[in-house]
Amino acid sequence: MRIGICGLGTVGSGAFNLLRDNGAEITRRIGRDISIAQVGCRRGHPDCDLSSADVTRDIFEVAENPDVDIVLELIGGTDDAKRLVLQAIAAGKHVVTANKALIAEHGDEIFAAAAKSGVQVRYEAAIAGGIPIVKAVREGLAANRIGWLAGIINGTSNYILTEMSKPGSNAAFAAVLKDAQDLGYAEADPTFDVEGIDAAHKLTILSSVAFGVPLRFDAIYTEGISEITTQDIEYARELGYAIRHLGITSSDGDAVELRVHPCLVAMDHMLAQVNGVMNAVMVSGDAAGPTLYYGAGAGSGPTASAVIADVIDIVRSKGVDTLANLGFTALDDRRVVDITEITTSAYLRLMVADEPGVMARISTILSQHKISIEALIQKNAQGDDAHVVIITNDVLEKDLNAAMEELASLKETKDEIARIRVAAF
Ligand code: HSE
Repeated sequence: MRIGICGLGTVGSGAFNLLRDNGAEITRRIGRDISIAQVGCRRGHPDCDLSSADVTRDIFEVAENPDVDIVLELIGGTDDAKRLVLQAIAAGKHVVTANKALIAEHGDEIFAAAAKSGVQVRYEAAIAGGIPIVKAVREGLAANRIGWLAGIINGTSNYILTEMSKPGSNAAFAAVLKDAQDLGYAEADPTFDVEGIDAAHKLTILSSVAFGVPLRFDAIYTEGISEITTQDIEYARELGYAIRHLGITSSDGDAVELRVHPCLVAMDHMLAQVNGVMNAVMVSGDAAGPTLYYGAGAGSGPTASAVIADVIDIVRSKGVDTLANLGFTALDDRRVVDITEITTSAYLRLMVADEPGVMARISTILSQHKISIEALIQKNAQGDDAHVVIITNDVLEKDLNAAMEELASLKETKDEIARIRVAAF
């Protein structure tokens, strides 16, 4: 099989060098050579020796090159990437991509085109870098009815939260984000990381792979970490929780929950132990029970590992797609549950005037909405103001929204009320 690499950035250079370094071992595994027929890139990469490669500045030439069997779309973005992938598919080539936005937003169209052309589209590298999570769900857990999947799938957000959690940390959000950018983890536009969009792209794909439902990026609930403060992290710790940014999807066979937001995770839960830029995904199947996958979610080597494994799968399958693109031969168009219909326990932080009777008014409002309090702490905040931190019992989001509106309208309430949902699995 001959591949054409489009894009020679972090992932493309990693794939190029991985084939050079491990080519003999890969051939020993699969009994065939994988050669690079062409590289499409605007400029070279300092880590890649392109002296014996056929290099073109026009990536679309790779899609049409008769010597290329598999096109690696590693340019990122959605416009040129979509055009490139559709052109390659129309030319009868298999496609391997690391592009989560492309698959989450245009996957249905791309998979339909691939089915029509009888070629494969693989995207393991799009989610959680070096962790073979698509393979684990589509193949390893293929005998299960998946109940839920939850994970830390954005390394930048996890790095920022971990840094902010260090004891005595006054780390300002912007300074920590700058570190994550310097480490090379953040997206070109870091808003995608901190506002949860990157995680939403990844969870959209994982949900479809887990439940065999169409890709519903349009319906996912997305909240990032930009409102989380070091005080929230401190209060959560005092109450026995870490704060993690999670993607959560579940299905009862009828509807699908699809949400990305910060969560309180019990300190002794395995996901609370996942620190720095690392990713981890838990998947629960009815036969296997909960399983956990952990590893580097980005970076040249880990992402290239997933890209080349996809190439190897195509070679091993001799180009015949036995799995279909999402791992189901027929998709089930289940309803995506609106966030207001979700039931969780929640952390609330209110800034209130520290006056007699405030606590009574807060608990009256909560009880009027049939919300009971699981834990409560009060701390001096600034001047005569206090922070009241509450963990509720399980409550329907709609009821909590109504209660929060009333709490916000109390004359003693000084600021916006922070709400962080508690993870319960
Ligand atoms: N920006 C992503 C992250 C890179 O921080 O996880 C991998 O998709």
